[in-house]
Amino acid sequence: MKQYIVTGASRGIGRDTALALAAHPSHWVLALSRDLAGLERLEQAAREAGAEQRLHCLPFDIAQPDMPQLMEVLGQWGKLDGIVHNAGLLINKPFEELDEADWQRMFQVNFFSPMALTRSLLPLLEAARGAHVLHIGSMGGFQGSSKFNGLSAYSASKAALANLTETLAEELKSRHIFVNCLSLGAVQTEMLAQAFPGYQAPLSSAEMGGFVAWFAEQGHRFFNGKILPVSVSTP
Ligand SMILES: NC(=O)c1ccc[n+]([C@@H]2O[C@H](COP(=O)([O-])OP(=O)(O)OC[C@H]3O[C@@H](n4cnc5c(N)ncnc54)[C@H](OP(=O)(O)O)[C@@H]3O)[C@@H](O)[C@H]2O)c1
Repeated sequence: MKQYIVTGASRGIGRDTALALAAHPSHWVLALSRDLAGLERLEQAAREAGAEQRLHCLPFDIAQPDMPQLMEVLGQWGKLDGIVHNAGLLINKPFEELDEADWQRMFQVNFFSPMALTRSLLPLLEAARGAHVLHIGSMGGFQGSSKFNGLSAYSASKAALANLTETLAEELKSRHIFVNCLSLGAVQTEMLAQAFPGYQAPLSSAEMGGFVAWFAEQGHRFFNGKILPVSVSTP
């Protein structure tokens, strides 16, 4: 049995990644989000897909993590095969209007929280002997990509996450823990609608969630410490 965590699983890409991972009969998925109603909808979708035994939802704020509660669930596993750091926060504002609190919130959710969660879970990841830590980055944080007004803090936080990918992969390789970052392009979700109102993305969250789930399970057989652009278009 392979055990996975997906953060930000109440909606969008995280929800569809969790469902796609749980579709596999030998997977067990812990789906985290703060949104109780969103988690209930996810549970319902898992039931409809016949995967309810393989998906467990836990209300959890990655910015204020209740680690004892998380460890109570994970402790039974004894190992963790993968974590998809998908939860993300985007505040779309011109640079001059972004205040200190905006910068802190985005860096908290997009960078500090995934970093701290990985650090807390290292013993379980190591126990899996081949675990995959998967960062969900953005083309906005990919060096040399097109950049957009209003996304300076968001893009900088994703760039920090991308860089952490390279350094962590090096530092953790002797412990058989693999780390990669998928820098996503446009996917039709609430976040995209907030960043680019009216824009129609070429991919649905179900399509991207399916790819992310596959990559979480298989990608570290082919890549380690890589920041991979997953994008056919940037708005
Ligand atoms: N959609 C795109 O075009 C696109 C492009 C590039 C990168 N991405 C990245 O892909 C990931 C998913 O994006 P999406 O478009 O699916 O976004 P979304 O629809 O806005 O969903 C974001 C998810 O993150 C969760 N989240 C935010 N803050 C959280 C916190 N403190 N604790 C726990 N969960 C939290 C939200 O859950 P709650 O708020 O309910 O807790 C929600 O489930 C993000 O990292 C995003 O930056 C998306």
